[in-house]
Amino acid sequence: MTILILDDEPVIREVLKTVLEKAGFAAREAASAGEGIERLSKEPIDLLLLDLMLPDRPGLDVLAEVRQRWPELPVVVVTAYSSVETAIAAMREGAFHYLPKPFRNEEVVHVVRQALEKRRLVAENRVLRARLDAGAGDLGGLVGRSQAMERVYETIRNAASARSTVLIVGESGTGKELVAKALHRLSPRASGPFVTVNSGSLPPDLLESNLFGHVRGSFTGAVADKKGLFKVADGGTIFFDEIGTIPPDTQSKLLRVLQEREFLPVGAVEPIRSDVRVVAATNADLNRLVGEGRFREDLYYRLCVITINLPPLRDRKEDIPLLVEALVARAAAENGRALPPVTPAAMKALLDHDWPGNVRELENVLERALVLGPGVIDVEQLPEAVRRSVPRPAALPPEGLSFRDAVTAYERALLAAALDRTSGVQKRAAELLGLKPTTLNEMLKRHGMLARDAAPLAALRGR
Ligand SMILES: Nc1ncnc2c1ncn2[C@@H]1O[C@H](COP(=O)(O)OP(=O)(O)OP(=O)(O)O)[C@@H](O)[C@H]1O
Ligand SMILES: [Mg+2]
Repeated sequence: MTILILDDEPVIREVLKTVLEKAGFAAREAASAGEGIERLSKEPIDLLLLDLMLPDRPGLDVLAEVRQRWPELPVVVVTAYSSVETAIAAMREGAFHYLPKPFRNEEVVHVVRQALEKRRLVAENRVLRARLDAGAGDLGGLVGRSQAMERVYETIRNAASARSTVLIVGESGTGKELVAKALHRLSPRASGPFVTVNSGSLPPDLLESNLFGHVRGSFTGAVADKKGLFKVADGGTIFFDEIGTIPPDTQSKLLRVLQEREFLPVGAVEPIRSDVRVVAATNADLNRLVGEGRFREDLYYRLCVITINLPPLRDRKEDIPLLVEALVARAAAENGRALPPVTPAAMKALLDHDWPGNVRELENVLERALVLGPGVIDVEQLPEAVRRSVPRPAALPPEGLSFRDAVTAYERALLAAALDRTSGVQKRAAELLGLKPTTLNEMLKRHGMLARDAAPLAALRGR
């Protein structure tokens, strides 16, 4: 956490700096309003310690500007001028923390911690509110207002009260688990358990004894009776995360549970009943697996009584701004950071990207940008794969340059990069650049960069 000390008295700055650093904060100093505002606009600051008696501007004026430009920034007003009026005026300007001079060291640290804690709570609150505004409020964290998502919400609401099996289909990271949990939360079983089965990683025997349980002595190592997940989930929901990976033997046993509502623990003679709702997710095309004989057709039909298709993020890009807002707010609250603004250029790059990893990828990209970045999310903070759709503006050297030459060089560099990425396939390079293939070809000709003219291209690449 970085704290800016804005005070014209060097001795006070020194004292505050020492106290704060001892308490584990990083401290920056500014001696005038002008210097302070400049620092705030240049570097991420988590809290401002503001003296109201400044040489160049009235302190309340500075406070008003800070409030306006950095509404999230907690401000602690420090002043020897501890009249009630100043305090009230400062409160009115939105500084809720006040430190009268002379202060005791512990007091400084206490007030600073309090102000930071308050900001964290405010941020957290906003996340909750953003969740409510941005998506289906009662659906617990599902963000998105696109038609496709609205249809998903509607199906969830309609299906929640039933016991029918639900199959959730969607690419990795599209929110299948969130949907499964929403189905549970909105169901009459909400107070019952929600149990997730990760079938993919387990050998078949272990999977079955996990699912159905076993009786003591039924195999080596079965030293005690074990309750299966189907029994653990009694009265609630059991969620099969990646149903496509269930081995064939287990598939038939699963089918039986779905039909009979009872199952046989490994080594048991008496079947056990359990009242569970089954929700399954898959990112594989189960239909295709059925066609290939890798998934039982009867089980498939049993599972897909109700199917929820989660669209990939690239097919609902209109949800990206809402998701960015909600995910950044969440990451900021979780990491105790101030809410960083997202620049228009960064938003454009985020909108242009195709998100093969869907919402999870977006979430990771934003969290990384937040944690490693300077308090603002700009193109620079985005990974190469996301950023590449936005060309960097050419640098303007102090001595100036020839506009035409610079543009020519830039064009050539872009063309070379596109050809490089597509191994020289012009049609795909044209797509990458949003050009018609004929236009691309003309440009290549103009720049003497056609493949048969390999030497200049190689020279350019080598540069
Ligand atoms: N619509 C959404 N709104 C908000 N967050 C979302 C949304 N969809 C997904 N997420 C977030 O993205 C991450 C991935 O979601 P989830 O685990 O539900 O995806 P999944 O489809 O189960 O992925 P996988 O197939 O890889 O298991 C989670 O952190 C989740 O909170
Ligand atoms: Mg999942």
